[in-house]
Amino acid sequence: VEEVIQRYRGEPAALITLLIEVSRITGGLSEPALNEIGSRLGLSGTDLKATALAHRLWYSTEPPPLGLCVNTPCAARGGAEVERILREKGVAFESLRCPGSCDLGPIACFRHGSPQAISAARARSLAKAELADWEDLLSVEKPVHAFRTNTRVAFANIFAKGSHQLATARRHGVWTSAAQALERGPEAVVTAVAESGLSDEDGEGGVGRLWSSVRERGEAGYLVANGARGEPGTFQDRLLLERDPHLVLAGLVVAASATGVHEAFVCVRAEHELAAERIRGAVDEATRAGLLGERVLGRPFALKVRVRLISKAYLAGETTGLLETLEGRPPTPRPSSQARTLLGRPVLVHDLETLALVTAIANSGPGWYRSQGVNGGAGVKLVSLSGDLKRPGGYEVPQGSMLRDLLELLGGGPAQGKSLTAIQIGGALGPLVPASMLDTPLNREELEKLGVTANSGALVAITEKSCLYDIARREVAFFARESCGTCEACRLASQYLEAVEQWGAGIGAQAHIEEIVARLRASTACSLGRRAPAAVESLMRHFPTAAAEHAAGACACSPRRKPRPS
Ligand code: SF4
Ligand code: FES
Repeated sequence: VEEVIQRYRGEPAALITLLIEVSRITGGLSEPALNEIGSRLGLSGTDLKATALAHRLWYSTEPPPLGLCVNTPCAARGGAEVERILREKGVAFESLRCPGSCDLGPIACFRHGSPQAISAARARSLAKAELADWEDLLSVEKPVHAFRTNTRVAFANIFAKGSHQLATARRHGVWTSAAQALERGPEAVVTAVAESGLSDEDGEGGVGRLWSSVRERGEAGYLVANGARGEPGTFQDRLLLERDPHLVLAGLVVAASATGVHEAFVCVRAEHELAAERIRGAVDEATRAGLLGERVLGRPFALKVRVRLISKAYLAGETTGLLETLEGRPPTPRPSSQARTLLGRPVLVHDLETLALVTAIANSGPGWYRSQGVNGGAGVKLVSLSGDLKRPGGYEVPQGSMLRDLLELLGGGPAQGKSLTAIQIGGALGPLVPASMLDTPLNREELEKLGVTANSGALVAITEKSCLYDIARREVAFFARESCGTCEACRLASQYLEAVEQWGAGIGAQAHIEEIVARLRASTACSLGRRAPAAVESLMRHFPTAAAEHAAGACACSPRRKPRPS
């Protein structure tokens, strides 16, 4: 612990990383430990406790040792059944935010350790076993990554042996490409990126436009690579960090030199231990080789890259919640009117996918990049296929690909002869889209017509195995669990959940739900609140009988069949 405190004392944006690392060593943070850390760092123990609580690093009452992911991608893939078994057998568990391993789901974690696949059979064994054997039981099922790619830009190298190592990255020309991009000069790079139409998940007018305005204002500060997005069903970031961390770093170098930034943070979710280990290893290797540091690639340009661990609170991966996290506070989203700064300086925050694409765009040009798309789409997109599919995984696909092709050709279609009833697009807060509407191309304009306002790249397949009412209820529960509760919108969350549960119990509450949704929309301050109504609204629109069927006992999770999960 002493060593961890010494390592991070005085380091920028390191408080949450320090707390996570101490918590790992001590098997969880206690109140005396937080008071001690506070006094060592000159911070108030009360503030530190509030921060640790908001980041789920400290609990006022100890949670059960077993954590279960209760989000849609896992639930649709058998997690709902696992959950029912554990409840029936009286095994207590903590409901987890998606640990980002949805391709391996359903997922459980033992004492906040790494995500492990769990099955109905394994859940039954756990219920019979002693607590001391749980860890072994959970880690028996070794995860199998099942990702494939179609086009090859950001995922070009991920199949190579040792793809995370510098020697392999060099063999694939990753760092030579970064050097070529630097050779072209910042203006040419910014122009290429602007003309390519590349845009982050939340859009905001495109990456190139942001870079030009930073250059015009001459206000370089920090660059943050956000590998901490917590949208259930979104795991491409994990794959990039585990499989090709040098590509992300090369993209950081290109972005930093184009915008004149000299300090960057790569943020990685603490649960993704392999991803964290590999990006840290890549930063060390690249720094030792002179690719980062005082003279990047031997040029008079300095870039210091630091890796930061981010907690499992959903809002900690939301752009402004992430900035608050890096500043060592609870991950409360900032009002949109507030300037985007980090530690008092301007900051650019980018998805890892964006960073993994910029080097190729800078070198091969916007025309080439746009031509990678099909059906009017421009460029490529990383998608995470999850839910009840034969081949869930991360895929790189042309923008404009038909949704049906992605699910059926790449994802292999529904597992075990089931048929698709709906897909959820864009993560937990995306709408439920009927399978009949899958002949739609994957691009922003077309997805907006389906009610998708932010596309994290998550596509969750739901078959008749799942109760659609239960899926929508899970989204509302997710919203209630993850909101920070500082504005009116989320103070409505528990009312919203209660009304949705009454609806599923056959007590007509539809008008009440609509009234809450209208109030929620009018008062939300961040994307979590803004997107919270989508699942229930889409259920009402496209599956109007789902709640009544659930109430009448048509599904295994119906209150008529069993006590309702709390
Ligand atoms: S909408 Fe909810 S999560 Fe977002 S800032 Fe307000 S209270 Fe927090
Ligand atoms: S790991 Fe369960 S939803 Fe992502």
